[in-house]
Amino acid sequence: MARTVLTYGTFDLFHVGHLRLLQRARALGDRLVVAVSTDEFNALKGKRCIIPYEQRAEIVENIKGVDRVIPEHTWEQKVDDIRAHHVDVFVMGDDWRGKFDALKAHCEVVYLDRTQDISTTDLKQRLKQVISVGSDQVKQMIEILQQLKADLD
Ligand code: CTP
Repeated sequence: MARTVLTYGTFDLFHVGHLRLLQRARALGDRLVVAVSTDEFNALKGKRCIIPYEQRAEIVENIKGVDRVIPEHTWEQKVDDIRAHHVDVFVMGDDWRGKFDALKAHCEVVYLDRTQDISTTDLKQRLKQVISVGSDQVKQMIEILQQLKADLD
């Protein structure tokens, strides 16, 4: 009998930690359903995505081994999703360890180790640093140009 695996995530700025999580989730069964958090749900969680839901869903949908993407709108939809998609295994990264143990009444619950040293939060932080260095340099250049113009006037 085919085993269906279900996992949830935002998958913003898709990175190798996401890819490996999906590959390992898929290896636990024959069919992988991925619930991608909508922009509205992320806003509710206090997260703002760089990549809009439609594009995050399109990326995840096209990862090898992903069979279906569904939207994640609320915290409470998990039991309904498990029933609707005949889920055998619910998978989350170990940052959520223990948080979804109540779902064991409905299916197997597995927490997978996260890939070390990468996260969307970390990528956003690094982007911010690059942008702030860039804008400082632009400011300096404007000052130099203004000085040059003043010298020529
Ligand atoms: N994940 C992982 N290894 C990482 C990052 C994420 O295994 N280095 C897993 C998470 O545990 C989750 C799934 O990938 O099961 C989707 O994670 P998501 O929260 O979208 O990504 P993060 O990079 O953790 O994003 P953030 O920093 O915003 O929490």
